[in-house]
Amino acid sequence: MSEHQEAKIYEPGAAVREGAHVSGMAAYDKLVAEAEADYAGYWGRLAREFVTWKKPFTQVLDDSNAPFFKWFEDGTLNVSYNCLDRNIEKGLGDKTALIFEADGGEVTRVTYKELLAKTCQIANGLKSLGVKKGDRVVIYISMSIDGVAAMQACARIGATHSVVFGGFSAQSLRDRIEDTGAVAVITADQQVRGGKQLPLKAIVDEALALGGCDSVKHVLVVKRTGAELPMKEGRDLWMADLVAQQPTTCEPEWVEAEHPLFLLYTSGSTGKPKGVQHSSGGYLLHAALTTKWTFDLKDDDVFWCTADIGWVTGHSYITYGPLALGGTEIVFEGVPTYPDAGRFWQMIQKHKVTIFYTAPTAIRSLIKAAEGNAAVHPDRYDLSSLRLLGSVGEPINPAAWEWYHQHIGGGRCPIVDTFWQTETGGHMITPLPGATPLVPGSCTLPFPGITAAIVDETGNDVPNGQGGILVVKKPWPSMIRTIWGDPERFKKSYYPPELKGYYLAGDGAIRDEKTGYFTITGRIDDVLNVSGHRMGTMEIESALVSCTELVAEAAVVGRPDDTTGEAICAFVVLKRPRPTGEEAKKIAAELRNWVGREIGPIAKPKDIRFGDNLPKTRSGKIMRRLLRSIAKGEAITQDTSTLENPAILEQLAQTN
Ligand code: PRX
Repeated sequence: MSEHQEAKIYEPGAAVREGAHVSGMAAYDKLVAEAEADYAGYWGRLAREFVTWKKPFTQVLDDSNAPFFKWFEDGTLNVSYNCLDRNIEKGLGDKTALIFEADGGEVTRVTYKELLAKTCQIANGLKSLGVKKGDRVVIYISMSIDGVAAMQACARIGATHSVVFGGFSAQSLRDRIEDTGAVAVITADQQVRGGKQLPLKAIVDEALALGGCDSVKHVLVVKRTGAELPMKEGRDLWMADLVAQQPTTCEPEWVEAEHPLFLLYTSGSTGKPKGVQHSSGGYLLHAALTTKWTFDLKDDDVFWCTADIGWVTGHSYITYGPLALGGTEIVFEGVPTYPDAGRFWQMIQKHKVTIFYTAPTAIRSLIKAAEGNAAVHPDRYDLSSLRLLGSVGEPINPAAWEWYHQHIGGGRCPIVDTFWQTETGGHMITPLPGATPLVPGSCTLPFPGITAAIVDETGNDVPNGQGGILVVKKPWPSMIRTIWGDPERFKKSYYPPELKGYYLAGDGAIRDEKTGYFTITGRIDDVLNVSGHRMGTMEIESALVSCTELVAEAAVVGRPDDTTGEAICAFVVLKRPRPTGEEAKKIAAELRNWVGREIGPIAKPKDIRFGDNLPKTRSGKIMRRLLRSIAKGEAITQDTSTLENPAILEQLAQTN
């Protein structure tokens, strides 16, 4: 019997069900049946309902060159028109689009009209510099109205944006700029997080100085803190100066549905991060549709997705989905623990947030904080405005789910545990709040029209109750189109020949025997999920071995962590004798900083162990399974007879 059959089930209450966009399981079943009966008809209907087309499409899906699928190909649209002008035409011009709360608590509101004007000025500014349809623009900026407007401005002129999370290092930024061949970088002088002023423009300067970025002609700098900055003549421009004289209107560039709206880099199991390419039409459809059905977004909601625009969650559920529906949303610059760990709850109270979407890591760390300090316990705040909660990025353990449900949702708010990926563009497996009975720890059932399934290594369905590989059998509108510049890698990574043409998600999953509900069991490749951030073990290994002065060899594995979900554990062989005691601590700190500089602070290993060697088979292959057990502190039960140097295991088991 699986865990779920004993788990508590939370049926949607009448108040949640009534008036929901998808109300009751019969409505969910009807949508699933509609998609099953006529797949193209279903998506075509929704694409007409949710997207305003300049030129209507005549064909829904072109699968003649699978897995390079095309959706709504001969239709044309503009994504920023759909997110801004369209709402103004509907009479929502004076409605608040964004409520920006700065790290220090200052609040700025912009209406749809104001956001459109700002977007158009940036769009015109970009055009005046010669940026045009198809050009790539890298955006390296923290959470801000300017960040959202910059993305919308790119969409308006048909430039493809690639947002790089502000926590990535100069080296990572450089790699992404080079891979995209960007003509411009949009950044800010600094970012402010947790009361600290941190560099942005200085990191752009450093990245460009590393070389390989000759494509970049312009660096546009938004003023955030007013810090003194060197500006390079002919290359660097203050955004305010660029847009000051620009008109507040700008005719949208009508692009084909398949036109790349954005590239977003994410980690794979091998090699360097991949530039996931998303389309305009299909992507916008799913971002808007899932915002409406999964979050049940209504006109008077105040929606808050706590993700950063540097991640896909911020793209779909800050910049695009809620705006496409004319919603009002929070854009938050700060961190959950500043000025104290009650910040999220205080903000929900202050802005009367109705829908709150965050990551399990944040919930787990705030549980810890609340348990340690009654002053920041959510029970001390008025959270009665909330009607719906969401979770994303990693599995939410049932204990955290129950706490979230009780202390944040007051026992009345459904929790939508949304499973999806950078590559999927929007939710794939998720409850619909007015329909799906909830089971803590399960992302429940596929979004209507998404053909998620669990198969074995040969692509055959496995029965419920038996774990396997998570796949999606049919293409869907918001799916990744390719890996930028590397279509072969796209095919190899997501459409391996043995899986019968199904999309390989890279996660393991199991369906409950009775309910058919999905539970994600974690990645089946060498990808780690640390605080909901995706990291490739190979990427961290290459960063470590690039410290050629010190490191001879490195192997990186994940181990479970109560707060961050997974933690990074590195096993390192140095070019000098194995250090112990204080020396080991010192070198570990040095290596941690090295990785921070190479990739970004999020990639710093929590645990670094030193050995004279790594556990290898006689043919020289590192036995990662053993390293995983050592990292967890488990006794080694695996067969070690093929190991060349069994004594190494004991050495690696010692922490510094
Ligand atoms: O392992 C799954 C996990 O996060 C991975 C995708 O990471 P990324 O592309 O960075 O996108 C994160 C935000 C959508 C997945 O392969 N994951 C994401 N959501 C869930 C999840 N695991 C379990 N439950 C979820 N709800």
